[in-house]
Amino acid sequence: MKILLLPGDGIGPEVVKQAKTVLEACGRRFHFQLTFSEAIIGGAAIDAFRTALPDGTLHLAQASDAVLLGAVGGPKWDDPRAAVRPEQGLLGLRQGLGLFANLRPVRVFSELLDAAPLKPEILRGVDLVVVRELTGGIYFGKPSERRNGSDGREALDTMIYNEVEIRRLLRAAFKLSRQRRKKLTSVDKANILSSSRLWREVAHEVKAEYPDVVYEDVLVDAMAMYLLRRPRDFDVIATENMFGDILTDEASMLAGSMGLLPSASLGESLNSLGHPRGLYEPIHGSAPDIAGRNMANPLATIVSAAMMLRYSLGQAEAAAAIEDAVGAVLAEGHRTADIAATGAGVGCREMGALVVQHLEHCAG
Ligand code: IPM
Ligand code: MG
Repeated sequence: MKILLLPGDGIGPEVVKQAKTVLEACGRRFHFQLTFSEAIIGGAAIDAFRTALPDGTLHLAQASDAVLLGAVGGPKWDDPRAAVRPEQGLLGLRQGLGLFANLRPVRVFSELLDAAPLKPEILRGVDLVVVRELTGGIYFGKPSERRNGSDGREALDTMIYNEVEIRRLLRAAFKLSRQRRKKLTSVDKANILSSSRLWREVAHEVKAEYPDVVYEDVLVDAMAMYLLRRPRDFDVIATENMFGDILTDEASMLAGSMGLLPSASLGESLNSLGHPRGLYEPIHGSAPDIAGRNMANPLATIVSAAMMLRYSLGQAEAAAAIEDAVGAVLAEGHRTADIAATGAGVGCREMGALVVQHLEHCAG
């Protein structure tokens, strides 16, 4: 099983390193062989090759069974007028691999109820997954440019969707809801945007194929409110690219920290094992302020590695073992700084080692 590691920028390399040690521990315990290769992306690639996604990186990704990415970006490459930006690396990879469905599960560990900024009675039992469209919408729509208009500088972006993009995303979301509580919430802004009105129209057509799933439409502004007021009511939430980007940062606060939330991006292409070739990454960013200081929380990347084992590598048992180990480490009270109620908490390396210890211990 060939895994491509893309550590990226900021805390990316630290958290990916810990996830790798966890994957290796799984290989030993569950007797499978992983072959790792590594490539550069984002700011690191801009420094080396003046492009955020070197061809070699994309080719390696296309030839591997799954990709594990840390994070991209940082102040060094933040000049708004720069021609190349680290984020282009990630967008190019998502598009280059055809990964149109981004699964972002949010589960609340009961051990962390007190770390979250919201009341425990609202959070207890939250278990939802956002299925975010990932290769369309305003992130990729053309034209997207800056120009001179009659009132000076102006800039525009284009929010565009076709029915094929909408239909395949909704089908993926409906299928996922059948493996869960059979409830699907489609989020749009159909009262304002034509792209959302098409979204809703196609969603209703697709809904007819899944009569056993309870379906609702919710406007994105209302959704932002419901996520905080009654997050337990949601099972699968399907939405377009930018709405999903925004709602998942908000939803991460339900779990207590961005440092806990994993993601999987899947498309239609299959890997050498016959499973979907996927890109796995934490939903957090590169956190340049704490990079290189052994302070980052590696758990989001570690549970992303668990999703990789489950969806792309056919190792569901190993995936569950990682999730159990993470739960156990949290239950014992170990916390990185982002979720520690008091004090500095444990470091990134120590947190990774604790998860590995649990994996090894349970095997014995
Ligand atoms: C995310 C991030 C990315 C996005 C950035 C880094 C390009 O915010 O994965 O949510 O906007 O999709
Ligand atoms: Mg985001």
